[in-house]
Amino acid sequence: MTSNLTGKTAARKSPPAKRAAKDTVAFEVKDRIAWVKYNRPEKRNAQSPDLNRRMTEVISELEFRDDVGVLVLTGEGDAFCAGMDLQEYFRDSAAKGLGGVRKAQREAYAWWSQLRWYQKPTIAMVNGWCFGGAYGPLFACDLAFCADDAQFGLSEINWGILPGGGASKVAVNLMNHRNAMYHAMMGETLNGPQAAAQGLVNESVPADKLKARVDAVCRELLKKNPVALKATKDAIRRVSEMTYDSAEDYLIRAQEAADSFDKSGRIEGMKQFLDDKTYKPGLGAYKRPVDAD
Ligand code: ACO
Repeated sequence: MTSNLTGKTAARKSPPAKRAAKDTVAFEVKDRIAWVKYNRPEKRNAQSPDLNRRMTEVISELEFRDDVGVLVLTGEGDAFCAGMDLQEYFRDSAAKGLGGVRKAQREAYAWWSQLRWYQKPTIAMVNGWCFGGAYGPLFACDLAFCADDAQFGLSEINWGILPGGGASKVAVNLMNHRNAMYHAMMGETLNGPQAAAQGLVNESVPADKLKARVDAVCRELLKKNPVALKATKDAIRRVSEMTYDSAEDYLIRAQEAADSFDKSGRIEGMKQFLDDKTYKPGLGAYKRPVDAD
């Protein structure tokens, strides 16, 4: 029992029970789109070790399912993800010593890496707060869309560390040098339109239009040849760190590897344009057998 200023006693509110690990991520698959949600709204979807382990399970389950063609990562409530959980990821892991710290890091970095090279196209749908450790998954997703009122920040500097866990790398990969430096050193937030202007996301749209916009992009992606999509997204990531000559060579080999895996798609695409004259590749995707009426 506690006393308030009027001297009356009141029952102390006991802290809410900790969310079960399996409930820290929610997902549903609808029309070949997997909507995956950070699901710790009461902690602004901060990434705890429980959540990181559960996210690995969820994205692993979805990656090779035939009924999934694209994955969207978003957050329940008013946060996308408030970065790493300062209590459970930092303080509790540190209390376990170096082994605890490294284990927690590996569990987080592992699913971000899996997402960077994911079999299916991925989209970050940033519905609200997006801080620090959330930049790993933000960058891991192939595309990113946000609500105008979302807030992005490298807040590490505000509590005394550097932007680790890949966050500094994400900033320099997505932003120009001056903007990345300012963003990391000042610890200020960017709203959605500012984040889009500085390259953190593809587009910022009003919050009430965000899901519809992402849904429309997913439906376009679902029309594309999945073999070409995987080869394309890997190519864009890989060539960014290659010389021109290396990139040229890599792209020849990557296309040949994709062809040897399955080239029926490109043959069909050429046939529909050159022989059937039923579509124009400059204006949209060919009709794939799965799309046929
Ligand atoms: N780690 C642990 N707990 C968190 C985190 C976090 N990153 N973010 C929010 N929470 C918890 C709060 O402690 C609070 O818990 P409680 O209800 O048990 O006290 C609950 O989530 C709600 O948070 P509020 O601060 O009350 O929510 P509000 O909507 O007012 O503010 C905001 C949201 C701005 C996101 C604020 O919570 C915040 O600044 N969080 C930290 C953001 C951050 O700097 N993250 C770390 C980035 S650096 C890195 O990831 C390496």
